[in-house]
Amino acid sequence: MSPRKNPPKKALAPPGSPAPESPVARGARRPRIKRTVAILSRKRSLYSTRRLVAAVRERGHRPLVLDTLRCCLLLAQGKPRMTYRGVEMRGVDVVVPRIGASITAYGLAVVNHFEMMGVPVLNPATSISRSRDKLRALQFLARSGLDIPRTVMAHDRSNVRRLVEEVGGLPVIIKLIKGTQGVGVMIAHTLPEVQTILDTFWDLGQEIVLQEFVAESEGRDVRALVVGDRVVGAMRRKAKKGEFRSNIHRGGEGQAIELPPAYMQAAVQAARIIGLEVAGVDMLEGHAGPRLMEINSSPGFEGLEGATGRDIAGEIIDHALAYAEARAGGARASEG
Ligand SMILES: Nc1ncnc2c1ncn2[C@@H]1O[C@H](COP(=O)(O)OP(=O)(O)O)[C@@H](O)[C@H]1O
Ligand SMILES: [Mg+2]
Repeated sequence: MSPRKNPPKKALAPPGSPAPESPVARGARRPRIKRTVAILSRKRSLYSTRRLVAAVRERGHRPLVLDTLRCCLLLAQGKPRMTYRGVEMRGVDVVVPRIGASITAYGLAVVNHFEMMGVPVLNPATSISRSRDKLRALQFLARSGLDIPRTVMAHDRSNVRRLVEEVGGLPVIIKLIKGTQGVGVMIAHTLPEVQTILDTFWDLGQEIVLQEFVAESEGRDVRALVVGDRVVGAMRRKAKKGEFRSNIHRGGEGQAIELPPAYMQAAVQAARIIGLEVAGVDMLEGHAGPRLMEINSSPGFEGLEGATGRDIAGEIIDHALAYAEARAGGARASEG
């Protein structure tokens, strides 16, 4: 089904419309009830989007890729509605949002609107928004007793030395609250360096946090992908030479690992606390176990599928379908 090329007249997903003729669809399982799974994504050519579409087809359901910025939200007295390229949005059973950092605000509005329309969304808007703010996420994680690197947020230029002492001294990590893919994460080795970086960001109106540098992690970290209440894949990422950030986008390399139980539990607990059904949880390997760094609500999984050989897309879609089913069951029960 491709609303891009040939939008049907009445609704995007009329009940009983035929399956697309693709080799995957021909070999697909035949489910009892055919579901429409919408994937919110800026581009259908992105690896994770393509994989999710294939996973929906393989299960005999109907994938629908929606460009987030083309969803038009209609509000008036009564029921909220949505159109997509002028066509009324109907018949979507579950939404899997893939919201890039550059369109967080609009993406959250679209996710919220689907929720208002009673469509189950994996992940909910409030949880995506919590995860996008590194400080907000750490507040939730730390309060629940998970171990995080010592972190301070401040806006006081007068005593930077004290801020540095609070997080255990030099070197320190300085992070933009809303950075991603390693951009906006810095390391400072001297006090004048810290002062210059802080002054620059504050002058630019950007909020930052100072964080303890977890030296024993040695440019490595662990990425665990949580789906529902399980870790479905994990890898250790190693920074390239001369770099402390292990992000794949910064040249880091991933290697599949069997996660120790403590890491497994911490990752699942973190996802539960933030309220994410699908989450990429980043942990540093501290002397005493996992130290949570951040949690991603639209984790890419090209690196993880490559490293582990696991069908991560399939895990996400199976969970999305079960989640929708449980919601529909709940709605039927409360109606009856
Ligand atoms: N406190 C820290 N100690 C040591 N390394 C860190 C610390 N914080 C971040 N890093 C390194 O920098 C990378 C990026 O940091 P992260 O907070 O995950 O930001 P981003 O959202 O940009 O990925 C991490 O994957 C890790 O390798
Ligand atoms: Mg990260």
